[in-house]
Amino acid sequence: MTRVAIVGASGYTGGELLRLLATHRGVQVTVATSREHVGRPVHYVHFNLRGVYRDLRFSKLDTDLISERADAVFLSLPHGVSMKYVPAFLEVGMKVIDLSADFRLKNPQAYRYWYGFEHPYPDLLRKAVYGMPELRRSELRDAQLIAVPGCNATASILALLPLARGGVGDLSFVVIDVKAGSSEAGSKPSLPDHHPEREGSVRPYSAEGHRHVAEVEQELGAVTGSEISVSLTPHAVPCVRGVLATAYVRASGEVGAKDLMKAYALTYGREPFVRLVRNSPHKYPNPKYVIGSNFADVSFAVEERLGVIKSFSAIDNLVKGAAGQAVQAFNISAGFPEGEGLKFPPLKPV
Ligand SMILES: NC(=O)c1ccc[n+]([C@@H]2O[C@H](COP(=O)([O-])OP(=O)(O)OC[C@H]3O[C@@H](n4cnc5c(N)ncnc54)[C@H](OP(=O)(O)O)[C@@H]3O)[C@@H](O)[C@H]2O)c1
Repeated sequence: MTRVAIVGASGYTGGELLRLLATHRGVQVTVATSREHVGRPVHYVHFNLRGVYRDLRFSKLDTDLISERADAVFLSLPHGVSMKYVPAFLEVGMKVIDLSADFRLKNPQAYRYWYGFEHPYPDLLRKAVYGMPELRRSELRDAQLIAVPGCNATASILALLPLARGGVGDLSFVVIDVKAGSSEAGSKPSLPDHHPEREGSVRPYSAEGHRHVAEVEQELGAVTGSEISVSLTPHAVPCVRGVLATAYVRASGEVGAKDLMKAYALTYGREPFVRLVRNSPHKYPNPKYVIGSNFADVSFAVEERLGVIKSFSAIDNLVKGAAGQAVQAFNISAGFPEGEGLKFPPLKPV
């Protein structure tokens, strides 16, 4: 059994890690930290987990205690906080899976631009592997530090990856429209995300430089080998979970549905958690049908008259967009079957 600690376990992604890892046959969760709830059982906060973890209580964030009691650590902390703890865990040889943005970008200067701070550990940025199996499966094997992608970045990259790999779209300038559920904002309420403000409303946010753009440009640029520019606008919609990304790309020459089918089949034909949505009553992805699961649903449309391709991807932000992708990447790096702890279908109706 691999002993696992979850740091920031009282939040939404921490709670989701607890839910997923409860069914993982190679893992035992031995530590769950919270500053506010020390000593309380984890189901005090995560009421859905009553009867699942009988003896697990929140403890304070003590790096020595964690390294004694665990072999691997998942960090579900805000960006800028994770990086304070990661070096200590790496030092004692633990596997570290960080769900924050602290190790996702390779260029230290990018942190100043996108996050407003100097990154104190440029060497660890080189060591970290971007934790998206569809992009970096071979690098994830034996990775010690995994930087789990952001949820909007995950949906955007999965929508665009077949176009980047298949060379069917011109990615030098891409427009992405994202619709996102409220749990993206974490468990600490802010006024715009308070239920009476959010319910029934649809509004754009972070429209001038959403931070996930940096990851999308970095990772897709590495695939195409050329610079790509992304303009991304997320919209808050009245759902709790779910992300839908719609990307608009100029076709490279005359591209039709057959070319796109080929590109999608080549990219995702063998992927265990990506499903192509075509020719069903639902022709395009809808986050409603992936909720609770690690699946990403993808599809495309092509307007040949305009030479425009639209690519779509729907995920559950807390699963494929966070905890599920973290477990998938961890499984690869630790030698477990990739789908261990993740083999449940989506909920319906939800
Ligand atoms: N929500 C999503 O859809 C999503 C998707 C992908 C990635 N992420 C990323 O995952 C990370 C966690 O997100 P979340 O949605 O789970 O946030 P959250 O619900 O706000 O949870 C954050 C957790 O961190 C703890 N915490 C906060 N500040 C801390 C500090 N200074 N020192 C120690 N512990 C601290 C909190 O616990 P106590 O206050 O009890 O200590 C809480 O358990 C973030 O970096 C986020 O960007 C989130």
